[in-house]
Amino acid sequence: MTLEIIVGQPVRSALYLDPEASVETRIEDLLSRMTLAEKVGQLLMLDTQHGDLEDVVSAKLAGSVLHVAPERMPEAVDLARRTRLGIPLLTADDGIHGHSFWPGATIFPTQLAMACSWDPALLQRVARAAATEIAATGIHWTFSPVLCITRDLRWGRINETFGEDPFLIGELGAAMVRGYQGEGLSDPTAVLACAKHFAGYSETLGGRDASEADLSPRKLRSWFLPPFEQAARAGCRTFMLGYQSIDGVPITAHQWLINDVLKGEWGFTGTLVTDWDNVGRMVYDQRICADHVEAAAVAVNSGNDLIMATPAFFEAAQEAVARGLIEEKQIDDAVRRVLRLKFELGLFEDPRTADPERQAQVIGCREHADLNLETARRSLVLLRNDGILPLDGGLTADGTGRATGHGTPRTIAVIGPNADSPQAMLGDWAGNSGQVPWMPEGHPRESVETVVDGLRAVAPADWTVTHARGADIGRLAPDPEGPVGPDGQPQPPVFTPAPVDQAQLREAVAAAQAADYAVVVVGDTIALTGEGKSTATLDLQGGQIALLDAIAATGTPMIVVLIQSKPSTLPDSALNAAALIEAFNPGMRGGRAIAELLLGLIEPSGRLPVSFARHAGQQPVFYNQVRGQHGNRYADLTQDPMFAFGEGLTYTTVTYSALVVHDHDVPADGTVNATVRVTNSGNRPALETVQAYVSDLTTSVTWAEQELKAFTQVEIPPGESMNVTISIPAARCSLVTADNRRVVEPGEFTLRVGPSSRREQQLSAGFRIRA
Ligand code: NOJ
Repeated sequence: MTLEIIVGQPVRSALYLDPEASVETRIEDLLSRMTLAEKVGQLLMLDTQHGDLEDVVSAKLAGSVLHVAPERMPEAVDLARRTRLGIPLLTADDGIHGHSFWPGATIFPTQLAMACSWDPALLQRVARAAATEIAATGIHWTFSPVLCITRDLRWGRINETFGEDPFLIGELGAAMVRGYQGEGLSDPTAVLACAKHFAGYSETLGGRDASEADLSPRKLRSWFLPPFEQAARAGCRTFMLGYQSIDGVPITAHQWLINDVLKGEWGFTGTLVTDWDNVGRMVYDQRICADHVEAAAVAVNSGNDLIMATPAFFEAAQEAVARGLIEEKQIDDAVRRVLRLKFELGLFEDPRTADPERQAQVIGCREHADLNLETARRSLVLLRNDGILPLDGGLTADGTGRATGHGTPRTIAVIGPNADSPQAMLGDWAGNSGQVPWMPEGHPRESVETVVDGLRAVAPADWTVTHARGADIGRLAPDPEGPVGPDGQPQPPVFTPAPVDQAQLREAVAAAQAADYAVVVVGDTIALTGEGKSTATLDLQGGQIALLDAIAATGTPMIVVLIQSKPSTLPDSALNAAALIEAFNPGMRGGRAIAELLLGLIEPSGRLPVSFARHAGQQPVFYNQVRGQHGNRYADLTQDPMFAFGEGLTYTTVTYSALVVHDHDVPADGTVNATVRVTNSGNRPALETVQAYVSDLTTSVTWAEQELKAFTQVEIPPGESMNVTISIPAARCSLVTADNRRVVEPGEFTLRVGPSSRREQQLSAGFRIRA
């Protein structure tokens, strides 16, 4: 087939250009004027990092682009404007926890870190702030939120999830969708949200990225689909389809998921985008298609709309129409869904290009930095504390935010490879995390506060903060198979653990010996995080275990801070430390938030959205596993997680009592109402996350022993008690039957309420759901 470059004058007087006409009228008018090549172009979303913009926009007529370097965006927009019909460009990028690849944009904690806040309203504000920054730069669409559920912790993309519980994920995901999309697409600060990766991508084999997922439709419906259904119902305008295949069928070709469930049962009328080169992958990876022509036909006929990063789709789809493999009407339907987004965003009237004035007002602005600090504070989870924290019994801040000491100057040694690493604070999808080439130095150093920076900024003026790196995590070598994969994406370098460096270790030990407190900041690094970067082990890598052991041996009280993309398995020296804080990748303000927590300027309030394993061999260790196995332990290890879903300590003492279920006999369309008394008997305030789990006592199929069904957060001043109301719609107490229907089975249930998923911390009371 020959490539025809279509040039000509835009049709200025056409009905589709009339803003007074209805969107549907405009779509039909425009569609009636389009050639097949123009229609196929509208289905292309191409990457422009390596490609020639003219080829992408003028020759292949791509209607949307992703990963466009900021300085090339005006040219891309202009090229689209100069195409025959002047259809504006739809621009997209991965603003996963902030505007990832815009220098100086506000980078919030990663999704996993933010999920520790268990606060949908907070995440909605985060997404709103991110959207205003993203929109100001001429990007219309962010590929967020990720609604995959954490299963095997070895997977490299755990950091992108909201953890392991479908209900919590659904609540947080829907909140982010609302935040991104704002008041609706006509709102100039709105960006399109994208629920991804639909569905089951995280059900990896051995944690390997995009392995075939061993999932039945019933297993999908039980655990993997609910967060996506919630996002669809929250009005999420776009969905991205995962890379993997399920039971032999690539997601791109998965008629049941796309057509029966998403578009059929849930009535989704939005737009679907494939993941990166899913169409090509069906040819060279999954090998279910002989060539791109077949693959293009499979993708379009299965209901995909936008085809990401498969340039060959342009010719292949046209050829597929010519060969009768695709009916043009199928293409028309997909084009309608793409054009609908463009019309509803108002791009024909205002292409929403980068606005430097607006950028100066919103990118990394004070208000967003404050929200970022608030989010980081709420993301920290205190896992262990022998009473060392808050340091010196807790300090208070002066008007500038700096702590005031109690008169005895202290020395804090801040040690470890992640103590002063800006990239570790940000994690994946930020700056130089590897996806785009235009930020080799990452975000401006001064925009990121590490733990060292944070302590120097807020520790009392007469305290001394010293720093020693102590260990390295790993060394990197180029991938012997080349820097770029078959799909055109950068290949991650090969990681090898760093050896213990004795000189570094001695320096760190000396710093700890000379200090009153040793804050040891360990974890992982970007080379062990992300797409194609799953890990075989969950242990701390390189010289980190030797470092922890050596600092523990000094006898200086050791506080371990984990800056990591996902839960690690920890050595005894860390588990027996005076205190242990999980921070995950806490974002640009994370270092300050951690310093504030150490000094008692804020209260710990985060709760784990994910369970921690004691050993990689315990995988998977998520709390809501299906009951019915022999016993509950390995011969050589308990199955009990190291830290369980929902756990997190405070600086005070909170107790639960008097759980009362008010309605013992509830109709299937009714609500279970209960109250529990929560008391703060300590002397510091608490922000308590009251968690309500339900156990269905007898079920027609094997089911999870308990599932989170509601949670609520209450502030309890020291010495006070309050009654907390819990309301759970009976419809939420459902399961998926053997013939794959989600139903509520009438019968006896137990409500379990407490501060975590741990049975021993929960109160319980029975109720019944009647038919
Ligand atoms: C591949 C990733 O799987 C997906 O999450 C991302 O949105 C696209 N690449 C675009 O960068």
